Formats: sequence, C-alpha cells, structure tokens
Amino acid sequence: MSEKKTIRIFDTTLRDGEQSPGASMNLDEKLRIAHQLEKLNVDVIEAGFPIASDGDFEAVKKIARTIKGPMIAGLARAGDEDIDRAWQAVQYAGERALIHTFIATSDIHMQRKLLMSENQVLDAAVRAVRRATGYTPNVEFSAEDAVRTRLPFLARVVEAVIDAGARTVNIPDTVGYAMPSEFAGIISYLKNNVPNIDKAVLSVHCHNDLGLAVANSLAALDAGAEQIECTINGIGERAGNCSMEEVVMALRTRHDILPYTTNVNTEHIYAASKLLSTITGIVVQPNKAVVGANAFAHEAGIHQHGVLMDKLTYEIMTTESIGLTHNKLVLGKHSGRHAFTERLKELGYELSREDINKAFIRFKSLADSKKEIFDEDLDAIVADEIIRVPEKYKLLQMNVSSGSFAAPTATVELEVDGKVKKTALMGDGPVDATFKAIKKLTKSKARLLQFTIGAITGGTDAQGECTVRLEEDGREVLGQGAHPDIIVASAKAYVNALNKAATRPKRTEIHL
Ligand code: KIV
Ligand code: ZN
Repeated sequence: MSEKKTIRIFDTTLRDGEQSPGASMNLDEKLRIAHQLEKLNVDVIEAGFPIASDGDFEAVKKIARTIKGPMIAGLARAGDEDIDRAWQAVQYAGERALIHTFIATSDIHMQRKLLMSENQVLDAAVRAVRRATGYTPNVEFSAEDAVRTRLPFLARVVEAVIDAGARTVNIPDTVGYAMPSEFAGIISYLKNNVPNIDKAVLSVHCHNDLGLAVANSLAALDAGAEQIECTINGIGERAGNCSMEEVVMALRTRHDILPYTTNVNTEHIYAASKLLSTITGIVVQPNKAVVGANAFAHEAGIHQHGVLMDKLTYEIMTTESIGLTHNKLVLGKHSGRHAFTERLKELGYELSREDINKAFIRFKSLADSKKEIFDEDLDAIVADEIIRVPEKYKLLQMNVSSGSFAAPTATVELEVDGKVKKTALMGDGPVDATFKAIKKLTKSKARLLQFTIGAITGGTDAQGECTVRLEEDGREVLGQGAHPDIIVASAKAYVNALNKAATRPKRTEIHL
C-alpha cells in the first residue's frame, strides 16, 4: 500500500489528561512532558486550560514560549473571557498558536447544564470562533458530547463554525458511549451533510468509558477523520482518553491494511509513558497494550520457545520501535558517572549537570546497599531527587520500632516551612504510627484514600516503592516515595503527597 494519508496527532495529556484524579502537574513537570511530546513530534500539544487557574495559564505560556515544532493549543469555553485568556497564553507560540474553543451540543447538556436553546448554543459557538479568529487563523471548535447530539443540529453547528473560520472541527465522544460503527456513521454523516466540510480538518476525541476509545478513533479514520486527539498512557477524565501509544502503534503495525501514517517518532513512546507515570504517580497496568510491563513478556513455555526461535512468532511489533531496550540490568557499585548519565539519557531523562550530580549521589548510596541497579531504580531516583514539587515539608529523619510484642512507635523529624519539628507517636502498625506523626507535625487535614506498596525490582534488597493517594478540599493528589526501607518509602510518599497538596495551583471552579 503506497499512498498513505498523514493523520494529525493532537496530544491532550497536559489538558484532558491532567483532569484525571490525582494527575495535576506543576509547571516544571508539564514542561518536562511537553519536551517529551516535542521529541515524539506530535502535531499539536494541548498545553492546558488557561482560564482555569494562574498555574494553568503560566504553564501554557511557558510551553508556548519554549517548545518548538508542534502547535500549542489552549482550551477555552465559548465565551470572550476564556478566549482572550487562551490567546494571552498561547500567543507566544507565534504561527503555531492555536485556540481550541468548545460548547456542548447534546440535548442533555444544553437543557440540563447550559440551560440554553439550540439557537443560543449555535450563536455562542459562532461568536466564539469569530472572536478566536480575530487572534489567529488556527482555531479548533469542539461540539462537546457530539455523540449524543441530534445529527441534523450537529451538522448545522459544524457548518456554521466552519463558515465562521474554524480550521478544525472536533467531534468528541465526551462520555465514551459510542460503538465503532456508530461513531464512524456520525463522521460519515457529517462528511455527507455538511456542504463546507472539506474546508476544515475533521478531528475525533474519544473517551474510554467502554474501553473503545482507540477502536472508535480508528473507525473514524475510514469515515474521513484526519486528526486524533489522545493522551500518553490514555490518561484523562474518568476512564481516560484514546491512548496515544496504542493508536499510533496500531497505525504503524497494521500499515499493511491501514492507509494512514503519523509524524510520531515512536521510538520515544516508552520514555514518554515512563516519564508520565513517574511524574503523576499513576502507574501503568502491567497488561496495558504497548507500554505495560508485560506487553513484551512471554510466560508460557511454548511462547518462550517460539520467541527464542523467532521473535515474530509472538511479537507483532519490536521493542525497539517503542524505544524499549531490554538492557534492564544497568549499573552497579563501580559504574561511573558517564555510564550513569548515558543510561538516564536512554531512559528519556535530559537532566542539568546539577540534577545529574544530585541523582548520582543517591545512586552511589543505593549501590552501596544493593548489588544491581535496574532501570526502575533509576526511575525512582529521578522521581525522588529531581521531579520534586517545591518542598514545604521535608523528611529529615525517622525511626520506627515495631514487632510482635512492642506497640509500633514512630519518631519523625520534619522540616516544616524551614523549621525543624519532631514528634513520636504510636499507631496500629509502623505505617500508621509514621503517618500519624507526619500528620501531627504538618497539621494536615488531608484524608488518606489509598496506600500501596511494592518492590521496584526483584530480590530482598529491592527498593520499596510506595504510592499514597490523598484527598483535600475535594481534590486528589498522588505522592510517591522509594527507599530500601519500606517504612521510609511510605513516609516519603506521604510527605510528597502533602507537598503536592500544599503547592498545587488553586483552580477556579470551572463548569464545562
Ligand atoms: O471530552 C470532551 O468533550 C472534551 C472537549 C473539551 C473537547 O474534552
Ligand atoms: Zn475530553
């Protein structure tokens, strides 16, 4: 198959993805993800929702100033203030700046949420697009909840916004409700019933509530869609969005029957997936397609035998194509700074000299207690030492006694806003005692929702890795910590989550 249509990849990890519970990122973290998206060479980075908070605004602005290559989009509801704010943030990307405006078009959203009639929604959509085109010709319009919208009305809206100047029209399955053939039918309907449809790029944005986001996006291509909106690891509202790595690798792997291609450098996919889960603390399920820990693992003897004879017996894509190297055992006590830095680069971490120094000190101390250092240990070191939110609270020292007859007691020393504080408390177990002590020192009101602990690698000398999910003022945060001592790892995760809660930007309540 020779003639391939290039499908535009619009990545919304930093906007829709960031709407996942616990996935909020600070400016520095967003910038790291944006750099990785730049390496992936996605066509559009939706960098945020500028009116949502000052933090969102600053992040979009910084990404627009810094990132070269992809277009930089900012989201805006269909209202003057949102659009002006989006422009103020994205304008720094110059000709690559894009305003993405939206309004809901389904009966249920119009009647129950917006309290607007069809004509009012149509007017608002057109007005919004006109205002945005006053700033830039790169305007995308989304008909929120398009899948549950009456098709003749959807077609009217699409025609009107294209007439008003929208260069891209996006058809979201906001609630992840569509079946592939049904979704393809909606795209075909628009292709056949909107007279000016060829004047705009038709885009799709699928949520994964029924696990069909990737299937629906692919089905839409055959009906004429030219842009797919997606996120790294498929993170996003509720069950998430169309997964970027899955849709891109499906197009690459099945190029024999699919006449499409993308501009994505797939060799950066694995590093992108790792970086995102390191930053957000949202782990990738082991059986996740393409990037899960088991995606290339073969358990059954017959499979292992086949793979040893010829990988193609059971592998449909190569590990190299997503940038996953099998060189898992990396470094040891005698490894030097050069090997260390090179391995970090291979894992996708571009660090400053100062950050490398910090990470190297931690690596050396870990190598003293652990014979073999694996990639996962390096991820944990980077997460702990480098990708850190500003620290209002710092864990200085701790000691725990527990066992089958002593009451578990934790002594914890923390720095709180620069002042050293110490306390000792008993608890139901060593983790409970530790968390109680930290809670007392920080006076935190956050509620513990979830606590998970695991070993990063195999062996009894493995580092423990802990994730803590907290809720405060209705918003969730995830904290992570790694240490050879699992109670210390737990304390670090708890303190990390508290730091995230304390430093996350305040958001105005946004009603979509
Ligand atoms: O899911 C959705 O409808 C959205 C729009 C804002 C594009 O995220
Ligand atoms: Zn969405």
